[in-house]
Amino acid sequence: MTQTRSQWGSRLGFIMAAAGSAVGLGNIWKFPYMTGENGGGAFLVLYMICIVVFGLSLVIAELLIGRMAQKTPVAAFRETAGRGWSVVGGLAILTAFVILSFYIVVAGWTLAYTVFEATGSLSTMNSEALSATFKQLTGNPWQPVGYAGLFMLVCVAVVISGIGSGIERASKLLMPILFVLLVVLVVRAVTLPGAQAGIAFFIVPDFSKVTSDTVVAAIGQAFFSLSLGMGAMVTYGSYLSRERNLPVDALAVVGLDTLIAVLAGFMVLPAMFAAGLEPGDGGAGTTFLVLPAVFEAMPAGSLFGFVFFVLLAVAALTSAISLLEAVVCYLTDEFRIGRVAATVGTAVACLLLAIPSSLSFGPLAKHTLFGQKFFDLLDYVTTWIALPVGGILTALCVGWVLGPRAVTALTNQGRLAAPWAGVWLFVLRFIAPVGIGWILIQGLIK
Ligand code: PHE
Repeated sequence: MTQTRSQWGSRLGFIMAAAGSAVGLGNIWKFPYMTGENGGGAFLVLYMICIVVFGLSLVIAELLIGRMAQKTPVAAFRETAGRGWSVVGGLAILTAFVILSFYIVVAGWTLAYTVFEATGSLSTMNSEALSATFKQLTGNPWQPVGYAGLFMLVCVAVVISGIGSGIERASKLLMPILFVLLVVLVVRAVTLPGAQAGIAFFIVPDFSKVTSDTVVAAIGQAFFSLSLGMGAMVTYGSYLSRERNLPVDALAVVGLDTLIAVLAGFMVLPAMFAAGLEPGDGGAGTTFLVLPAVFEAMPAGSLFGFVFFVLLAVAALTSAISLLEAVVCYLTDEFRIGRVAATVGTAVACLLLAIPSSLSFGPLAKHTLFGQKFFDLLDYVTTWIALPVGGILTALCVGWVLGPRAVTALTNQGRLAAPWAGVWLFVLRFIAPVGIGWILIQGLIK
């Protein structure tokens, strides 16, 4: 018990790590195609509103509860709010584990595509050949599992090294690299002939395209992108010293996450328009089916394609690390298991769960559970059920159970002006539970 808990070495280190968790496949793979499918500018506006209204308040709430307890989410909810609330933490850890298991499958594909681009094997392909390549990779029984395993190995190496010399150091190195790569690709995309139409589609809202599905998609995406409801932010908050100015740090994390999603939109949508494609083309497959062709049509296309997939892999890495850390922190805090054993054990178990997810694109494609492929089922249950349930319970817990105590902890040393704390509490008590409750219902109807 006398062992002191690890802490972030610097403010910048913490912000980079938390932003690294938030910035992931969600920003670069999911956000652009969701914007494309949901009418462009109008989706962007809705997304921003969700970030400001729910996202920021919940990021602060999650970081705060971790910081107050200095423990894993399970213990953090138990010690701050009471025994029964530890279920919220438990649900979060379980969700993190499950998300990690299919996140590494997609991350594995990005590694595979990095190799394809590096060897130039996509350079002469037309769209049929690209889709055959994608099917061949994802349908192969062992190759994608191998890539997922390789990806997991890198995560393990980072998480084993601990908070300061592992996660913080890796994030401080990787996040600036990610940013530079992204800016290079944005500049390339927006200067392509015909890109203007894509820029207009992205930033000029057309509200006639908004339906209730658009709103649900925007809230769900905001949550996933900010790493909420999965214990990641609570865990990262638990390594913060109580002196930190939390609202400002949270604002930086949320701002960076949003900035990167918007930049990804400026990269993907103009490039698609320039290549004569419709913004909704390819859907979730845009990244793997459509973008390689877009890159190949540009001068030095293989190089830009390679840079793009490296970018995606880096983004996925810092997010996967935070999911792994959430589970590892739980095992080390609650069961006093050593970090090395906890990390390796979690990684192996997760990889085993990744196998059926991966196989559901190939040999198991015809086997469905509740009418869905295994991969889709895990995605659905976590994103549309576990995540909103966790979000609502966290908001209620911090808003009602902790209430004034949370405000005191947040405004320590008068760092948050009282009116803002009042707004924050109001959002947690009323706006977030109602808003998120509504996506939960919509998700269940779907
Ligand atoms: N926010 C990450 C992304 O956008 C995903 C993630 C969710 C990571 C939850 C950690 C925890 O890809």
